[in-house]
Amino acid sequence: MSITRLGVNVDHVATVRQARRGAEPDPVTAAAIAELAGADGITVHLREDRRHILDRDVMLLRRTVQTHLNLEMAATDEMVAIAMKVVPDYVTLVPEKRQELTTEGGLDVVKYKDKLTRQIDLLHQADITVSLFVDPDLEQLKASARIKADYVEIHTGAYCDAKGKQQTVELIKIEEAIKAGKKLGLGVNAGHGLNYQNIRPILALGGVEEFNIGHSIIARAVLVGLDRAVREMAELVHGR
Ligand code: PXP
Repeated sequence: MSITRLGVNVDHVATVRQARRGAEPDPVTAAAIAELAGADGITVHLREDRRHILDRDVMLLRRTVQTHLNLEMAATDEMVAIAMKVVPDYVTLVPEKRQELTTEGGLDVVKYKDKLTRQIDLLHQADITVSLFVDPDLEQLKASARIKADYVEIHTGAYCDAKGKQQTVELIKIEEAIKAGKKLGLGVNAGHGLNYQNIRPILALGGVEEFNIGHSIIARAVLVGLDRAVREMAELVHGR
C-alpha cells in the first residue's frame, strides 16, 4: 500500500509577509524547508484578492518545488488562464468569497457542473491533474466523477469545528465520503482545519491519499520552527 502524503500549505507564511507588504518571510523559502522536512507536496491558494500568495510566488514555486505543486484557486476563467500558464502538477478548485476569512464550504459541483466541466477539460488539455474541494456529500462526489475530476478533496472543516457527539457524526460523513469517492474511481484527498490532534481519527479511517494542511503547521512553526513543525506532522501522516 502506498504511503499517505502530506501537502503543506504555505499561504500563511505569505500572510505574515503581507502584513508589511515586504519581502519576508518568503513562502518560496518556506516551501523548500517544508520539503526538506518531509512534505510530499506544496500547496498555495492564489486568491482573487491576492491577500497572501502573489503571482510571483506561484511562478517561482513552479520552478523550485521538487515534490509537486498544488495550486488552489477559484473556479473562474481568469484563474484557469493563470493555471494554464503556470502548469502546476495539480489544481484544486475551491469556492471563494472575498469577505471570508478562509474557504468556507465545498464547491457546488451539482449546480456548476457545466462551467466546471469546461474548466476541467481545459486543465486536462494542459496535463494538469484536477481536484475538486467538496463537502462529504454523496451527490457532490457523484457529480465530481461524472464531470471527470481526477480527485476530490474532502472538506474536513465541519468535523474540525464540531464538538462532542457532533464530531463523531461529522467523522462518519467523512468515512462514507472516502469510501464513496474511491468506489466512484476518484482519488481522495482531505483538508481544512486539520491539526496535530484532530487528524488522528481521520488517519485511522485510511483511504485518504493526501492531506493538505496549512494553518496548524504554520502556527506551530512560529513557536518551534518550520522544520520541526513539518517533521511532526509528516511523522503523523506517514504513520511513523
Ligand atoms: N484545503 C483547501 C481546499 C483549503 O482551501 C485550505 C485553506 O486554504 C486548506 C486545505 C488548508 O486548510 P488549513 O489552513 O485550515 O489547514
